[in-house]
Amino acid sequence: MKDINVAVDGPAGAGKSTAAREVASRLNLKYLDTGAMYRALTWKAIIENIDFQNPEEIINLAAVINIDIKNGSDGSNLVYIDGIDVTQEIRTPAVNGKVSIVSKIPEARGKLVARQQKIAEDGGFIMDGRDIGTNVLPGADFKFFLTASLEVRAQRRYMELKEKGCNITLEDVKKEISMRDKIDKGREVAPLIAAKDADLIDTTHMNIEDVIQEIVRKVNKLKAGRT
Ligand code: CDP
Repeated sequence: MKDINVAVDGPAGAGKSTAAREVASRLNLKYLDTGAMYRALTWKAIIENIDFQNPEEIINLAAVINIDIKNGSDGSNLVYIDGIDVTQEIRTPAVNGKVSIVSKIPEARGKLVARQQKIAEDGGFIMDGRDIGTNVLPGADFKFFLTASLEVRAQRRYMELKEKGCNITLEDVKKEISMRDKIDKGREVAPLIAAKDADLIDTTHMNIEDVIQEIVRKVNKLKAGRT
C-alpha cells in the first residue's frame, strides 16, 4: 500500500516548518519545505539582478534554475543551487521582502509545483507550504492548516532572526509578514487558504511540542483506522 502524504499549510510564523520537521522524524516520514524552493528562486533572482517588475525574467530563471533539496542531520532541508549550499542565504530579510512577488507568478509556480508533486508521488512525505492541501497534493491523506495571531507569529519570527544575529525590529518583522500574508492570500493562482478538508490548528496559545503531538495523534488515529 502507498505510504501516506501529509500536507501542512499556513502563514509565516505559524509553526509549520518546525512542527512538520519533527512530525516527520516521529512518524518516519520524509520532510519537504516547499517554501525553500520559492526562496531559492528568489535568492538567485536577487543575485542575478533580475528585474522583479518583469515576470518574464523570473519565468526564464525558473526554467533553468537547478535547485536541489537534501536532508540535514537534524531532519531540516538543506537547499542547494547549482551544487552550492544556500540554506542560510535564502532566509534573509532581502529574500523575505521579494519571495511573494516571485511566488505569485503562475508559470514560476508551475515549475516548482511539478517538482514537488514528483517528489511525493510514491507517498511517505510531510510537506509544508501555502498550497499543499489545495493544489500540490489535493489528495493528501491528512491536511493541516496552522494559524496564529499576527502578533505571536511576528514575535516568533523576530526571535528566530535575533538568534541568527539579524539586526531587525519586531515592528519590521510584523510589517514584512503581514505584507507577505496579503500577497499570498490575494494572488490569483493557488492562494494561501485552508483546504475545505483541512484540520485547523490555532497555535497562538500552543507551544511547539503541543502542536507536534496534536498532528502525530491525528495522523496515527487515521492510520489505525485504515488497518
Ligand atoms: O517560513 P515562512 O512561513 O516564512 O515562509 P516559507 O514557507 O519559507 O515560504 C516563503 C514564501 O514562499 C511564502 O510567503 C509564499 O510566498 C511562498 N510559498 C508559496 O507560495 N507556496 C508554497 N507552497 C510555499 C511557499
